[in-house]
Amino acid sequence: MKLDLAPAEIGKLTSARRALDFVKPDMKLGLGTGSTAAWLVKLLAYEMRVNGLKFDACATSSATTQLAESLGIKINNIDELGQLDLAIDGADEFDQNFNLIKGGGAALLQEKIVETAADQLVIITDASKQVKHLGAFALPIEIVKFGSETTQRLVEHVLAGQDVSGRFVTRRGGKSPVETDEGHYILDLQLDHIGNPRALSSALLNIAGVVETGLFLGMTNSIIMGDSNWRALVKSNDSLNWVETFYDISIFSDFLKGNKNEV
Ligand code: A5P
Repeated sequence: MKLDLAPAEIGKLTSARRALDFVKPDMKLGLGTGSTAAWLVKLLAYEMRVNGLKFDACATSSATTQLAESLGIKINNIDELGQLDLAIDGADEFDQNFNLIKGGGAALLQEKIVETAADQLVIITDASKQVKHLGAFALPIEIVKFGSETTQRLVEHVLAGQDVSGRFVTRRGGKSPVETDEGHYILDLQLDHIGNPRALSSALLNIAGVVETGLFLGMTNSIIMGDSNWRALVKSNDSLNWVETFYDISIFSDFLKGNKNEV
């Protein structure tokens, strides 16, 4: 079988496939946002259609809602579902303590609401997201529109007292600012190295105009890294080692035919 998938996409698909092992029938699921989470949504739709998997889902963004509904997955309001069994999402960076930077797709607020309401959070990634210290990826924070330039100034002021290497702040989208699903703006904080994520998170959240930060600290139960050799490495926060699973490419054959990725 020959696939028209780029190596990075194979890694994302493999990671998402491994995450399916965490999904049990009739679970209440939170579906993440981004290109890796999109593979998960497609795999869940396939399992639902072909193998009759039943679950109740809510989404972390309008983009995920749109994708899921286009594939026949009903998206519920999180308030109707209550406490979730499991949330699965991508990340922009993770460190050895399972702290994350998220929000590259501007969905960090809904992601945090959904993922703090889940008994378990599984992160689907690849090795490029693994870092010794968070901060190479610009940290997104969501701020309200009112007084946004004042908030930006206060953020810059707070950064001066934090253990970070860079302190460069930009509004995403510049003069045509990106608006989140909740009608807020995103500031990207280029910090290069975050020495104390917890202190930084509290200091930023103390600013009235900051709604939420892309620092997801102490929330993650398991991380899965997929690679282009159809290998998934899984580690849980209570285990020492990464556990390997290899997939035979043929198991994706029917799924990928449906997704038109086979040539
Ligand atoms: C969305 O706001 C983000 O938190 C994503 O989960 C993150 O950017 C990962 O996206 P990819 O899977 O596309 O890398």
